[in-house]
Amino acid sequence: MSAGFHSLKIAELRQETPDAVSIRFDVPNELRDAFAFRPGQHLTLRREIGGEEVRRNYSLCVSPLDDELRVAVKRTAGGVFSNWANGELKAGDVLDVMPPHGTFSYAFDAGKARSYVGFAGGSGITPILSLLKTALLSEPKSRFTLLYANRNSLSIMFLEQIAALKDRFLDRLQVFHFLEEEEEEIELFNGRIDAQKCDTIFSRLVDPAAIDAFFICGPGPMMETIEGVLEGRGVARERILIERFTTGAPSAAQVKAAEALVARAAQRKFTVELDGRRRQVSFDAKAGSILESARAAGLSAPFACKGGVCATCRARIVSGSAEMKTNYALTPEEVARGYILTCQAAPTSDDLVISYDL
Ligand code: FES
Repeated sequence: MSAGFHSLKIAELRQETPDAVSIRFDVPNELRDAFAFRPGQHLTLRREIGGEEVRRNYSLCVSPLDDELRVAVKRTAGGVFSNWANGELKAGDVLDVMPPHGTFSYAFDAGKARSYVGFAGGSGITPILSLLKTALLSEPKSRFTLLYANRNSLSIMFLEQIAALKDRFLDRLQVFHFLEEEEEEIELFNGRIDAQKCDTIFSRLVDPAAIDAFFICGPGPMMETIEGVLEGRGVARERILIERFTTGAPSAAQVKAAEALVARAAQRKFTVELDGRRRQVSFDAKAGSILESARAAGLSAPFACKGGVCATCRARIVSGSAEMKTNYALTPEEVARGYILTCQAAPTSDDLVISYDL
């Protein structure tokens, strides 16, 4: 077993919708601390499928207070892992799982009375459900409003669980469903959440000025629209928390800048600290990143998406400097503290030392 992964047995597989399954893992006592998590975090799963190693990140869909480790996997068109998990995986099978990580989380405080809003689109509900449950369970005076967009009622993940939470937290949880392919009397709830709907939501359902944190996870265009409308209404950046599963295609200018960064770094030497050992590596411009150069040199540096989204490959600069081509995963505070996404980074000095252990 390479660094970071543990083999966990699947205790239960539950069909959540015709297209989505949730996976509950058996966590042996000796790994309970390693698999403790914060609401909103995700797991990296690894499996060999069709002779290829496949790694994917899936958000935990439970609260730490539920005392179970469960992720949900929705089938995507052409998705190697998601189709395999929704067709062949069964209880009793074993998957390689990396301990929970990710910064899409929140420090809930039992003494506070806060108001939260969650915008979820499709499988984007998974981390939002984790945050929503934790907020309601751990802050008895706080409220949560969930705005949840789906194609049709059959595709709504956790529909019954959300309805049960609504019954349990009658005065503190509000839920609004938006469906693209089904119509209901109130026009606002028909169709995608676009800028116009956001304006109506913020005028009629939610006063953004009274909300302590917005949690947003769903398709890229939906997230960008909501973020733009909130910023346009003067909501402070630190009150808007966004979790991205994928990114859009980079612009021509971004591609050019990334190529220049990589070309400038060619042959620079850098030092990698991993599992307490230090090793010097040459930056391989063909491989294109610190992560790929380290792996090509035989180091088992962690990764999952390789797209700047998941932060599995995060490391900290100990000395010297590096730049990233793109970053959708690290907060400005993490960047200020010297963290980089190694799948996106190249050295910009000759004395770079990075550590995966910090
Ligand atoms: S591997 Fe996902 S951000 Fe680098």
